[in-house]
Amino acid sequence: MARSFRLPRQAGVGLRLPHLVEFAATVPRAGWLEIHPENFLANPHATELLIEVSRHYPISVHTVGVSIGSASGIDRVHLKRVRALIDMVDPILVSGHLAWSTHAGDYLNDLLPLPYDEETLRLLARHLDEVQQALGRPYLVENPSSYVGFGTSTMNEVEFLGELVHRTGCRLLCDVSNVHLSAHNMGYDAYHYIDGLPAEAIVELHLGGFSAEDDEANPGATLLVDTHGSLVADQAWDLYAYACRRFGPKPTLIEWDNDIPPLEILLGEADRADAVAAAATAPEVCRAAAR
Ligand SMILES: [Fe+2]
Repeated sequence: MARSFRLPRQAGVGLRLPHLVEFAATVPRAGWLEIHPENFLANPHATELLIEVSRHYPISVHTVGVSIGSASGIDRVHLKRVRALIDMVDPILVSGHLAWSTHAGDYLNDLLPLPYDEETLRLLARHLDEVQQALGRPYLVENPSSYVGFGTSTMNEVEFLGELVHRTGCRLLCDVSNVHLSAHNMGYDAYHYIDGLPAEAIVELHLGGFSAEDDEANPGATLLVDTHGSLVADQAWDLYAYACRRFGPKPTLIEWDNDIPPLEILLGEADRADAVAAAATAPEVCRAAAR
């Protein structure tokens, strides 16, 4: 049985399969760990190790296959399997993306965008209710990394998230790196985006690496791609400091899913997040920012 933990103040890291044995065997210092349940559902040995790890660390469950934006409905069998894992690790937080990735039983390997309009709000409100009932926990909604948007959207992403919070009472996971890269790709101001989010609804923050690639649809322009395969960029650290001042210190996760480095590198990024958050929320800095 997992121990019950409170929300940590220290930053955490994504627990990926290459580091699972090391975490179970050596219990290195880390504030908390976030898993993708889909990595464990068909892997009983990894699940056994995860249960062992959950005795030592707060665990957050970050779903990538629940697909709250699917027009064809939520896969209840998948929800049941995620619930079984949740019951085993007793997570401090459960979350997923403002996106869709399944349709009528087909699973796509991408988190796809949604039109921000009244119809999507109603769909998400229904699905959030269904997911929270099935999982027995509040379900945090994460802002996506954006590359394209819908011309039919009637509100921007910040307005949409604010309205979703207002209607459903859901809470949000703000991926600061996603805000930076989406702002670049979609042509809006990342700081203005942070200013517009409902601060009282923010429960968790994410930081991850991204890469700059040529934008094939727009020759000469650069697209930032959410690869989770490198160190957090300086611009994302600056935006993170700003987010910490606006939201207050929140459990922050370093996400790294590709070209996974040795654990010390990941833990070093978590240490940096702690240092940036502490400096950004020091009383003298907050007083200066308020003037
Ligand atoms: Fe994220």
